[in-house]
Amino acid sequence: MVVQDIWFDLKDGRKALLRSPREEDIPGTLDYLVKSAEETEFILRYPEECGKYTYEKEKAFFEWKNASPTDAMLMCLVDGKVVGNCDIAALPNMKARHRAVVAIALLKDYWNLGIGTRMFRELIAIAESMPQITQMELEFMEGNDRARRLYEKSGFRIVGVHPNAFRLRDGAFRNEYLMIREMRR
Ligand SMILES: CC(C)(COP(=O)(O)OP(=O)(O)OC[C@H]1O[C@@H](n2cnc3c(N)ncnc32)[C@H](O)[C@@H]1OP(=O)(O)O)[C@@H](O)C(=O)NCCC(=O)NCCS
Repeated sequence: MVVQDIWFDLKDGRKALLRSPREEDIPGTLDYLVKSAEETEFILRYPEECGKYTYEKEKAFFEWKNASPTDAMLMCLVDGKVVGNCDIAALPNMKARHRAVVAIALLKDYWNLGIGTRMFRELIAIAESMPQITQMELEFMEGNDRARRLYEKSGFRIVGVHPNAFRLRDGAFRNEYLMIREMRR
């Protein structure tokens, strides 16, 4: 699914752009994948696991996302720089295709500026545009209070916990929480 340009104002007064990914975003996205993994423990990958991301694989991934009728990716650009992205993916199997899974991550310099809030507004609008989707879903790691706040204010609620779903480099375990948001049409 292709989402056309959506401009909005950040809390610091700068302009930001949301749109579907383009080939020109690939170098910035590869930098973002490593940097975001260095900046927060709340995403799944460690920086050294980013070797699997290549220009060609990102190109194919962007093309696949943009062509899909049920999936979309939104890049956020500020002053022309890729600062993060979010994603929505409807599950493919017949018994699960009423569910849309969403995910989001931004570079640290761009946290708390309202990007996540605006991205979730758009993700919800995309899910609402697909009549088969009855619920949106996501997971977050124990301790990620900023993400939890964003999700709760976007209408998600915790429905489950996966004990010790993650183990950090220092050996510490972290639970994972599952949230859903029922569609209101
Ligand atoms: C989590 C994340 C996507 C949120 O996006 P964002 O653009 O920073 O979010 P917003 O600025 O739109 O909103 C953040 C909200 O959390 C609040 N907040 C900030 N720090 C907080 C904290 N420590 N505890 C609770 N709430 C907090 C803000 O006040 C704001 O709420 P408000 O709009 O009511 O004032 C972003 O910070 C991020 O990419 N973090 C690292 C990667 C990550 O954790 N991804 C999610 C994995 S599940």
